[in-house]
Amino acid sequence: PTTTVYDYFNRPLRDLRISVTDKCNFRCTYCMPAEIFGPDYPFLKRGELLSYEEIERLAKVFVHSLGVQKIRITGGEPLMRKDLPTLINRLSQIKGVEDIAMTTNGVFLPKYAHALKEAGLKRVSISLDSLNDEQFGKINGRGVSVKTVLDGIDAAAAAGLNVKINMVVKRGMNDHEIIPMAKYFRDKGHILRFIEFMDVGNSNKWNLQDVYPKKQIIEDIHQVMPIEAIEPNYTGEVATRYRYVGADEEIGVISSVSDAFCSTCNRARLSASGTLYTCLFASKGHDLRTPLRSNQSNEELTELLQSIWHDRKDRYSVERSESITNRTKIEMSHIGG
Ligand code: GTP
Ligand code: 5AD
Ligand code: SF4
Ligand code: SF4
Repeated sequence: PTTTVYDYFNRPLRDLRISVTDKCNFRCTYCMPAEIFGPDYPFLKRGELLSYEEIERLAKVFVHSLGVQKIRITGGEPLMRKDLPTLINRLSQIKGVEDIAMTTNGVFLPKYAHALKEAGLKRVSISLDSLNDEQFGKINGRGVSVKTVLDGIDAAAAAGLNVKINMVVKRGMNDHEIIPMAKYFRDKGHILRFIEFMDVGNSNKWNLQDVYPKKQIIEDIHQVMPIEAIEPNYTGEVATRYRYVGADEEIGVISSVSDAFCSTCNRARLSASGTLYTCLFASKGHDLRTPLRSNQSNEELTELLQSIWHDRKDRYSVERSESITNRTKIEMSHIGG
């Protein structure tokens, strides 16, 4: 029997986002800028990473004793971690896991999509911020071509994975790509989600002026292809949905800055090194690796996790719009968004 745990604001825990590595083959300017994540950057070492056994053990406790129903694998770039299908296979066999997804830049999907699907993965969110090669090469910081990612998208779809596309929109960087991206993925039949540039981490020089807000995104698209708001798939869905008028295709907008969605936030984030964060913008997490490696029983782990969730008061996006917050935050590449 699964127990649901509620936090200080009465929000249940439903979603567990598991980062499996802090490394990435991209250096996106808004996430891991190359000038900070250079050759000497202290990435996690092997022994600091949770093993697949350890991740599985924790995930079981989360699912069986805390009410988690959805698992999402993130990074850095999750496919940089060896044998990822093995982990997916273990997690997908946990009774009570209703959905298992992954967020990726898509580069390694031609190689792994089939094995991931076989292992039980249901969905992928693939990041792509532009259809223009020169521009995309600059954004990803490694000169990777658009086609490389499009091939990954095709491989995922061909393997039978459900595909969504994530586009981070930053003013002056790619706001003029909103319409071409919308048209392209409408034709392709994949849901495209526009994400407001967020102040995650401390490295991306975030500035409110660089945020291209949801309202503007919607207006831009509506002028060319009329859209209408539709109901969320479930309470707590991160993206607000819109459908092209008179058609089936839809898009989503993720507006952490202009329209906070903390009131329904049911997500916990586990870093690759085994630290649990109860908010994307947390400055401090809870170390789970030490208890994991010191022979604590599952009952003890359950108690620890329940008390962490019970005390949770995070609502950063709301606080951001209420006042000027200025804190040191966990890097995006440590918790994968
Ligand atoms: P679905 O399960 O398909 O709805 O996926 P998702 O949108 O929850 O996951 P994904 O990893 O694709 O994230 C899309 C964007 O939403 C990323 O930029 C995330 O950082 C952001 N995001 C996801 N959850 C939260 C959250 O709790 N708070 C904030 N501020 N942003 C979030
Ligand atoms: N703001 C908004 N989204 C971001 N992502 C990474 N950094 C940021 C940021 N600063 C996105 C990635 C990926 C998802 C996990 O988070 O592009 O799609
Ligand atoms: Fe890598 Fe994704 Fe961050 Fe880009 S946004 S640097 S692909 S983890
Ligand atoms: Fe959840 Fe924190 Fe995002 Fe608010 S800002 S939705 S509390 S992760």
